Amino acid sequence: MNAPMRSIKIKRPDDWHIHLRDGDYLAASVADASNYFGRALVMPNLVPPIVDVAAARAYKGRIEQHLRKDSCFTPLLTLYLTDETSQDTLVSAKQSGFIHACKLYPAGATTHSEGGVNSIDALFPIFETMEKHAMPLSIHGEVTDDDIDIFDREAVFIDRYLSRIVTRFPALRIVLEHITTRDAVAFISEAGDGVCATVTAHHLLYNRNDMLDGRMKPVYFCLPILKRSTHQQALVEAVTSGNPAFFLGTDSAPHPRQAKENACGCAAGAYTAHAAIELYAEVFDKVDCLDKLEGFASHFGADFYQLPRNQDQIELTEESWQIPALLNFGQDRLVPIRAGEKMRWRVTSGARSSAAAMKDSHLSKPHELPAG
Ligand code: NCD
Ligand code: ZN
Repeated sequence: MNAPMRSIKIKRPDDWHIHLRDGDYLAASVADASNYFGRALVMPNLVPPIVDVAAARAYKGRIEQHLRKDSCFTPLLTLYLTDETSQDTLVSAKQSGFIHACKLYPAGATTHSEGGVNSIDALFPIFETMEKHAMPLSIHGEVTDDDIDIFDREAVFIDRYLSRIVTRFPALRIVLEHITTRDAVAFISEAGDGVCATVTAHHLLYNRNDMLDGRMKPVYFCLPILKRSTHQQALVEAVTSGNPAFFLGTDSAPHPRQAKENACGCAAGAYTAHAAIELYAEVFDKVDCLDKLEGFASHFGADFYQLPRNQDQIELTEESWQIPALLNFGQDRLVPIRAGEKMRWRVTSGARSSAAAMKDSHLSKPHELPAG
């Protein structure tokens, strides 16, 4: 006799770190992000970046054009900090009501970070204002020095910068984004209230062997780069521990196929928004901790951002389904994480189809990879 299908209900989750891009790409990315997340914290690294309230308001409008009028999905905006960010900008960001964090990208650390911050210490007066106005600081925590090995850049950032920022601004709420190391887990675990971390599904599911063993696989290339399996293990332990300092942020970062599978260099970013909560469910299930998924996915992030938890629920059922080999992405195609492979969990209730044009969204028109 077959075992009964397992299922789990959780409060509707939120994604506290996502890249939706802009223009032609928005329809697909908004459709996926809004399918079962209640809210998403939208990263500001457009070209040019979102550096002031007017640009954030306009971007919010463009995102909302892809949502149905009755959609309950809420995009939460962020501002991109630069060497020139002013106190006035911060105060008006706080007053806007729709900007929920300011993002620190060390200049050159990742995709579209060229306009980021060159001197973190010079930004301390800005951190002071953020602390005073209760504006969370979201950090891409990697140093950019050529002489620091790419696998060490997160740990060195924590030592050189984060530890000082945390000590100097004790009331500043900080998110170390998309953590990848046991060093980050240890730091966040000991840092006390108000210093948290997001963890992606891909850093929980994969390590650098998945990316580099045998053939180099561009689909896994993202920043911070995947680390060795002992770090992956530390991340899994952190998110399944029930510690509210660790919460869900997919860092879903779409790039068209030609930008990733490119002989002149692979763009950094992994796309998981098409199956995000299902991928996380797999991680928690694998270590028999599905009961810890709801806190991580639906409670702790909202609590950190001082927003109400969502009211309604979604249901996940253990049921196999296939991810298409290619997804539509504007006029381009995109190879998502798990392309052409099977998923073990499926959202069986609570999907909302809240995008304005689901029929145009890429999941409804899968493309197969050409043979060969
Ligand atoms: C992100 C992107 O493509 O915008 N890339 C990535 O590898 N994660 C930027 C970022 O979050 O670092
Ligand atoms: Zn990101």
